[in-house]
Amino acid sequence: MLLTEIDHVAIAVSDLEAAIDYYRRAFGAEVEHRELVQSDGVEEALLRVADSYVQLVTPTSDDSPVAKSIAKRGEGLHHVGYRVRDCGEALASMIAAGATPIDKAPRPGSRGTTVAFVHPKGSFGTLIELVQVNRTA
Ligand code: CO
Repeated sequence: MLLTEIDHVAIAVSDLEAAIDYYRRAFGAEVEHRELVQSDGVEEALLRVADSYVQLVTPTSDDSPVAKSIAKRGEGLHHVGYRVRDCGEALASMIAAGATPIDKAPRPGSRGTTVAFVHPKGSFGTLIELVQVNRTA
């Protein structure tokens, strides 16, 4: 089994502050990590749930994939991040199983992770992100 944890559930939102405030009021959730990911055109806020996260993600430019997703489908569930020990190994295994990669090779993600996205087409309609957590000493 290559999956070790549900790393995060990513929810696309138009107003990050409003979403953070809502999760705070509804669940008492606090932001553990916040990051502007320029390469993906998003800002994200991570709310810890046990050893996993709810990731609220908002676009920072009109041409970011998350902006396009909100324009097309509205706010809501955007992707699921599956935690794996080795991103490259998991990506190769998915491709061998018939998946369509978006990232041809693992690349840097937020929090110093190594990630690869896999297209919903061929994965039963869910955008999947493989997340390798690189723990530093
Ligand atoms: Co993600």
